[in-house]
This record gives sequence, C-alpha cells and structure tokens, in this order.
Amino acid sequence: MHILVTGGAGYIGSHTCLELLNAGCTVTVVDNLLNSSRVAISRVEELCGKRINFIKLDLLDIDGLRQVFAQHLDVRAVIHFAGLKAVGESVEQPLRYYQNNLIGTLNLCQVMAEHRVKHIVFSSSATVYGTPETLPILENFPTSTTNPYGSTKLMIERILQDVHISDPGWQVVLLRYFNPVGAHPSGYIGEDPSGIPNNLMPYITQVAAGKLMELRVFGNDYPTVDGTGVRDYLHVVDLAKGHVRALEYTQKQPGVFIYNLGTGMGSSVLEMVHTFMEVNKINIPYRIDPRRPGDIAACYADPSLALRELGWKTEYGLREMCRDAWNWQKNNPDGYPEFE
Ligand code: NAD
Ligand code: UD1
Repeated sequence: MHILVTGGAGYIGSHTCLELLNAGCTVTVVDNLLNSSRVAISRVEELCGKRINFIKLDLLDIDGLRQVFAQHLDVRAVIHFAGLKAVGESVEQPLRYYQNNLIGTLNLCQVMAEHRVKHIVFSSSATVYGTPETLPILENFPTSTTNPYGSTKLMIERILQDVHISDPGWQVVLLRYFNPVGAHPSGYIGEDPSGIPNNLMPYITQVAAGKLMELRVFGNDYPTVDGTGVRDYLHVVDLAKGHVRALEYTQKQPGVFIYNLGTGMGSSVLEMVHTFMEVNKINIPYRIDPRRPGDIAACYADPSLALRELGWKTEYGLREMCRDAWNWQKNNPDGYPEFE
C-alpha cells in the first residue's frame, strides 16, 4: 500500500516511515524541511534497505500538493505529521501557527478529496485534554486548550470530524500522543531540536553531553509522588508502530477513530533523571526552579482502547527510552549533519 507521509523527515515521521517500509508499504514523504533534515530520510533508507520517494514541499503550496497527488495516483492513505509544535513559540507567533497548521491541513484535505483519498491519520496530542480532572485520561474526557499550538490540534480534530460528517466515506484517525521520547535503538535516527530544547528528554541528553550546564526541574511542589511533574513518556518506536496498526485497523472501515497512544504509566521528572543516570552511568546536575507557566501536575493515558481495537501497546520502558535517547545524542552530538 502506498502511503503519503507529511512531515516524514521529522522526529516521529522518520521513525514511522521506517516502520511503514518494514511493514511492506511504499512511502512518499512531503516535507518542507523547516524543522528537519533530508539526512533523516537517507538514514531511514539505509536502515531498511528500501527507498523513500522524498518531495520537498510546503503544504501551504496547494498547487504543488495537487501535482504530488496527480503523480502518485496509487496513494491510499495519508499520515499527517507536518506542523509546527513548539508551545512557547505558538504563544509568541499565533498567526504563524494557525496559518501553517490549519491552512496546511485544509489544503491537504482539499487535495485528498479531489483525488478521492479519504483515509487520514492525524498527529494530535494529549494537550487537547487541557487540565484533566481525573487520571488516567480516557478518549471521551472533555477537551480544552491553553495555547495556540494546542488550539490548532483541537481545531484540526474538529475539521477532520466535520469532513467525515459531510462524507461518511472518510476514515479519520486522531492519534493523541502523550510524551514521545527516545530514538531508534540503532542510534541512527532521533530527535534533532533546533536551539535550546524545551522538552525534558532532549534537555537531559544535552546536559549529559555537556552542551548545557544543568537541568532546571520546573517545580517540586506538585501533588505528585515526589513533587515534580508526572508525564506518560513513550518510546518513539512504539509510537511509530501505533501508526502502522492504526492504518491497518481502519483500512476497510469508514469512521472517526480516536486513540490515546501512551504507556498508561506516569513518571516524574526526578524518576526520569535518576533512571537516565543509572542506565547511562552519567551524572545529570540539576536544580529546582519555579513551576513552568502552563504546566499541569500530572498527565497519563488510559491506552486500553488502542489495545482492544488496534492490538497496540508499548513494549519499551523508561530504561530503554533513556538508553536510546542517549545513544542517539552520543552518536550525533550536533544532530544530523548538513549532508551525508
Ligand atoms: P517535527 O518538527 O520533528 O516534525 C514535523 C515535520 O513537519 C518537520 O519535518 C517539518 O519540517 C515539517 N513541516 C512543518 N510545517 C510544514 C509545512 N507547512 N509543509 C511541509 N512540512 C512541514 O515534529 P515531531 O515531534 O515529529 O511531531 C510530528 C507531529 O506530531 C506534529 O504535528 C506534532 O505537533 C505532533 N506531536 C508531537 C509531539 C512531540 O512530543 N514530539 C507530541 C504530540 C504531538
Ligand atoms: C509539552 C507541551 C505539550 C506538547 C508536548 C510535546 C508545554 C506546556 N506543553 O508537554 O503541549 O504536546 O510538550 O511536545 O510546553 N521539565 C523540566 N525541565 C525542563 C523541561 C521540562 O522540569 O527543562 C518538566 C516539565 O515541567 C514537565 C515534564 O518535564 O513536568 C515534561 O515536560 P515536556 O517534555 O516539556 O513535556 P510536556 O510539558 O508534557
């Protein structure tokens, strides 16, 4: 089956392309490389010995997108990763986030409809649950957002649901990721954040590498096991496999499908730091700082629907996440090279 992957050169996209190729799919990637490298694509190809059809294109270019679909008439489904994803930046540049994420998605759906490709898997986020009243989080919990990034996720979910209402022949899959971390165990592909990372794991690996002085732990007075924030971290390879399972399961049934993709287990910041130090035998200096505005105390999934319907559950634990994140960082201290 031929799958079009938008944002396929990015962190989660590249890992998913590898799993798609391993599952025997043909893969075309459309990415503007704004936050990624062409090298990620070559490395995926090397890892599995198969080719990816890469097209450098911005989803805002609807004519370019039309050409892609016209040239690849056998595309059966789209996995839609392309989007901007930095929460803080989205607060500073809301128009850019709405423009890129919403218009990009509208263009994509428009061209898909023109070509009667009606199967889409969308990268949503646990951020759509806002501040959950109880834990673990089920798919039917109320949704709300506190920043433009999160709002684009919720709006796109809504747009795709409306598309399905207008034409029930669509298969719409909304995957709500919890906190993806780690890298492929080969250390060949991984997360390559530009500038100083905002997220916990890439920050820890850069402290481990000596690129950053110390980790700032944002708050130790939350009502959690040790006072630090609790999240549901999942290995990016498990997450990538979730996309393949979701595509397979929804292949023949129209509808809107919403799944939490997480482990179902919460880990605190200090648990993560201590696991990283123990597994990799590296000290991570840290200090306690005030809470980060906008953070919630705890967030973890009930992933049982994905298990029941997709037969998907995570296989890797925190130790493997820490091992593989460090393995990637160690082997690629400056991320992907410009060329290879
Ligand atoms: P990423 O930035 O590594 O990948 C996104 C890719 O999309 C990049 O390669 C970027 O160049 C491309 N892109 C962005 N705008 C584009 C456009 N207009 N046209 C073409 N390409 C464009 O991010 P990621 O971590 O791999 O995330 C993938 C998706 O998953 C995003 O939609 C993100 O919001 C969502 N998500 C990520 C996380 C996370 O923690 N990483 C959590 C929840 C949801
Ligand atoms: C953040 C985003 C969320 C997005 C997700 C994945 C915010 C408020 N939320 O989630 O919308 O979907 O990333 O991209 O930005 N921490 C530290 N020190 C650090 C970094 C983080 O203590 O330097 C703590 C945080 O306070 C939190 C935990 O580590 O308790 C995880 O943080 P992070 O990796 O940024 O993910 P989220 O906040 O869950």
